[in-house]
Amino acid sequence: MNSYSKVVTIDGPVGSGKGTVGQKLALKLGWGFLDSGALYRACALVATENSLDSSRSSAILKIVGDSDFRSEPRADGEEALVFLKGANVSEQIRTPDIARFASELATNESIRTGLMSIQNSYLRESGLIADGRDMGTVVFPNALLKVYLDANLHARAERKYIQLKNKGICVNFDALYKEIEQRDARDSTRIHAPLTKPEGALVIDTSNLPPDEVVIRILNELDAVCKMEFEIEKYC
Ligand code: C5P
Repeated sequence: MNSYSKVVTIDGPVGSGKGTVGQKLALKLGWGFLDSGALYRACALVATENSLDSSRSSAILKIVGDSDFRSEPRADGEEALVFLKGANVSEQIRTPDIARFASELATNESIRTGLMSIQNSYLRESGLIADGRDMGTVVFPNALLKVYLDANLHARAERKYIQLKNKGICVNFDALYKEIEQRDARDSTRIHAPLTKPEGALVIDTSNLPPDEVVIRILNELDAVCKMEFEIEKYC
């Protein structure tokens, strides 16, 4: 391999399908999986549990850093499993309140910088699928393939509504729609590592595409990139 890392990054706004597609890809390829959103949610969870606000970034990072954060892909299409100190916190971190607080904490530069080492520790020889908002632009700029998933706001809100409902969390659809709109706006306009399309990314609109179709498109592109890589290596 040349200077590219064996990483596929998948960035995009709320509900664009990053998690579902990323997990399917990781399981299909036998690569590691990093749900970086879960890491920001973990910060929000420990901050809430310890009554810490965003001004206490070092304390929040220390607790998360000592918690042996792990995200594991699931085969059943549900969101990734997330563990802190071995305890399954997957349900606790997926509430609308934690999502909002995570997005507020994510505007904080020290939090973002502090989480870099945990994210980098996910790099594996075997390969890594990393999903989030700044995976291709900031955290893994040398990724082999950068993907940007998008979908119209209505489709994305519907997906989130169904996900929450399946977990027994009842929310008002219009309120959720507004909440997602606000979170996207905050994530894309913040000063540090805002959500943007990475240069040269494969952009896929998932509004009317089932996840398996999206996976096939990404695998085809990956295949083409890997062949190119091999050619480059041969002539170096
Ligand atoms: O992807 P998910 O909805 O779990 O992410 C929760 C929040 O974490 C996002 O709204 C965003 O503010 C933040 N985040 C981020 N950078 C990432 C992943 C998530 O700022 N790479």
